[in-house]
Amino acid sequence: MYAVWVVEHKPKSLNEVVGNRDAIQKFANWVKSWEKGVPKKRAAFLYGPPGIGKTVTVEALANDFHMEFVEKNASDYRTEDAVKRFAGLASQYGSLFGGKRIVLLDELDGLTGTADRGGVKAMTGIVKTAQCPVVLIANNAYNPRFSTLRNYCLLIEFKKPPTSEVMKHLKRICLREAIEVEENALKFIAQRSQGDVRSAVNDFQALAQGKKKLTYDDVSWLGYRDRREKIFTVLRMIIYGKTCVGAKRAVDMADVDIDMLFEWIYENVPAHLTDPHDLVRAMDALSLADVYRGRIRSTQNWGFIRYVVDFMSAGVAMARQNTKAGGWIPFKFPGRIRMLSRSKAERAMRLKIGRKIKRKCHISAVRASKEILPYLRIIFKNNADMAVGLAKWLDLEPEMIEYLAGTKKKAEAITQLIG
Ligand SMILES: Nc1ncnc2c1ncn2[C@@H]1O[C@H](COP(=O)(O)OP(=O)(O)OP(=O)(O)O)[C@@H](O)[C@H]1O
Ligand SMILES: [Mg+2]
Repeated sequence: MYAVWVVEHKPKSLNEVVGNRDAIQKFANWVKSWEKGVPKKRAAFLYGPPGIGKTVTVEALANDFHMEFVEKNASDYRTEDAVKRFAGLASQYGSLFGGKRIVLLDELDGLTGTADRGGVKAMTGIVKTAQCPVVLIANNAYNPRFSTLRNYCLLIEFKKPPTSEVMKHLKRICLREAIEVEENALKFIAQRSQGDVRSAVNDFQALAQGKKKLTYDDVSWLGYRDRREKIFTVLRMIIYGKTCVGAKRAVDMADVDIDMLFEWIYENVPAHLTDPHDLVRAMDALSLADVYRGRIRSTQNWGFIRYVVDFMSAGVAMARQNTKAGGWIPFKFPGRIRMLSRSKAERAMRLKIGRKIKRKCHISAVRASKEILPYLRIIFKNNADMAVGLAKWLDLEPEMIEYLAGTKKKAEAITQLIG
């Protein structure tokens, strides 16, 4: 059995916790202030997204400060009775064995429904009278159910650590596990986790365990898979969406911009909505979205963007009334984008050749690419000897010759003659 790295390489001391330096300092200062007597706020409320080190900070601090660490989880404070059962713990700073005590009430988000309201109320009671530091943790401290409780707490926000900090933690694991890892492979894993240290460590273990060396090539393919799967999920949520809200939420999930997403939807709707009436409705919605896109372009009034989003997501989702959601139809990359990007590369090439012509003929590169380039193409396709002279005179690069000649074979013939 392999050990789980998030447990195995969990920070034991505060200086091993990466990121959130200010928050950790604030927290440590507050705990220290208890030495001088009960502070105004008897509880600290740490909050922030998952996997960034909230729980581990409290554990590491208790370790550094040699405190008795008492941890309670959601199941311990569902009801008023349950909370009261451990209330006594918080009524003493010094523990039986002479050390100081710190009480952690973790994962408060777990409290839901009216049955738990008593729990929060009882918890507030404990916090008001606590004789030792009480720490509360939740992802969202601004949940209305904590509004009273919050008043008695020192609020400390934990943010997602930047990539460089996540990498620091991964590097420490590399050293301990004696794995040699390419810097950009680590960076890739760290970036992908978007500040969630727990998932970065889990990904890293999945990819690196049992290896002596991890290269960028070993990990980079994941990015491609992520992006593709993500856009497919988004498309599925829109085309097969059952509610307007769900379809609109899908737009927020997409990590492509609105125009690109529009192309994806436009490309894939016809293959998926097999019922013609559904398809008409969906195309109608898309055409309305497109009208607003046009208005944004011409007026720069970005307020219209909400209509674009509504029509292309909710509008498309509501169009499906007869088509069944069962079958599996693959999603296609938008053809229009493929065409545009090809023509973009082509425009760039024409301009490059235009610049070469400009130098010799003293006309603008754009004009050269429009007026002279077409003749060059005819010459390069049909008269290799003349092409050789021109290619030398204009100092054309091989890729330009290939573009003008149209085929690799003809281009080779010309370059060979150039020698
Ligand atoms: N900032 C960090 N520095 C080092 N390791 C971390 C950090 N954040 C998370 N980890 C690793 O991820 C594991 C989970 O972190 P932790 O339990 O502290 O997350 P959390 O912020 O409490 O998340 P949740 O909101 O899901 O409870 C830790 O045991 C540790 O291995
Ligand atoms: Mg936690």
